[in-house]
Amino acid sequence: MAEHQENEGLKIFVLPVILGIAVIAGTAFFPVFDKDDEVDLPLAATAEYGQRLIRDTASLLGPDQSNPAMRYSGNRLDCSSCHLESGTMPGTLSLLQSASRYPRFMGRENEERDMKDRINGCMQRSMNGRPFSRDSIELAAMENYILSLGAQYSAMSESKTMAHEPAAFVEPQRRADIEAGQIVYEQHCQICHGANGEGLKETTDVSDGYLFPPVWGEDSYNNGAGMNRVLTAARFIKARMPLGAAILTDDEAYDVSAYINSKPRPVKSNLEADYPNLTLKPVDSPYPPYADPFPQDQHKYGPFEPIREFYESLN
Ligand code: HEC
Ligand code: HEC
Repeated sequence: MAEHQENEGLKIFVLPVILGIAVIAGTAFFPVFDKDDEVDLPLAATAEYGQRLIRDTASLLGPDQSNPAMRYSGNRLDCSSCHLESGTMPGTLSLLQSASRYPRFMGRENEERDMKDRINGCMQRSMNGRPFSRDSIELAAMENYILSLGAQYSAMSESKTMAHEPAAFVEPQRRADIEAGQIVYEQHCQICHGANGEGLKETTDVSDGYLFPPVWGEDSYNNGAGMNRVLTAARFIKARMPLGAAILTDDEAYDVSAYINSKPRPVKSNLEADYPNLTLKPVDSPYPPYADPFPQDQHKYGPFEPIREFYESLN
């Protein structure tokens, strides 16, 4: 028994260390960009620059950027904190096939939106920041990078494009249990994301961003972000977390999503303007107004099926 516990402790200690080495080794393969050297900023919107922006968002576009004009994100997440391996990992939140999905109709804005709009959506919500102007080099670079992934995907062998993920999240038919979610968090997440959801900084220099990103608090995604919806977060967490060992059950993923999204995070203004046609609002959108009689708590934590049935009965 004692020996078993010792091994568990060792595993918990070693895993982040191995991951840390992997992350550091990974960055060594790419050209190192000196964030203090503004003359180095590319003047062309190359896909290569776009990839750097998506991978090193915190240092290139974050609140500590030495050039104030380049401070676009309001937190120190990287796009790749959610779009793993700069969006090149097939499966959940992959960007490999995104180019072919745009332009398309978006319920949140109730109009057709293109790739630039979509990136600006994540800038203002997931990154808690401000949008790029339509003619910005950075925006075009990220768009060009994402467009280039389409060709990369077509060239990939099936063994690579087949997502190595657990079975897709199946939504439990009950209200999510925040207390149970806390226990899941303490057992499976806290070691990397911290007891207060604060994450772990990459170095002592805050501008380098995080090795393990925060999951709540002021340096996290805001309340208008997709990840702040319990079902979106549960799908991601079931497929991806704990990083490299996604082993949670549907119930655990559901409850831990509710737990992290019950915590404080930056507040986005003007959310009441989202979804001009309220009947298109996702059932798990955690902020009002709604076109149905269900309380906000049920939109945040479920059960969601009765809300869906209400809208289906209208048609
Ligand atoms: C906190 C997690 C998070 C971060 C950080 C994040 N995103 Fe996203 N992104 C999402 C989620 C979740 C979606 C899916 C949309 C939804 O369900 O609302 C998404 C969707 C997208 C899409 C559309 C993908 C598709 O195929 O439809 C693009 C493009 C995108 N993000 C780009 C970016 C870029 C560029 C950044 C950095 C500037 C970024 N994202 C940062 C969570 C994140
Ligand atoms: C071994 C360390 C580790 C563990 C354990 C872990 N994560 Fe993560 N998590 C990461 C890393 C690293 C990322 C960013 C992905 C990247 O950089 O490749 C991340 C990203 C995330 C994100 C999206 C980015 C953000 O900060 O919002 C969420 C949400 C998340 N994890 C939730 C969880 C939950 C819930 C658990 C427990 C079930 C968990 N993680 C366990 C390392 C870990």
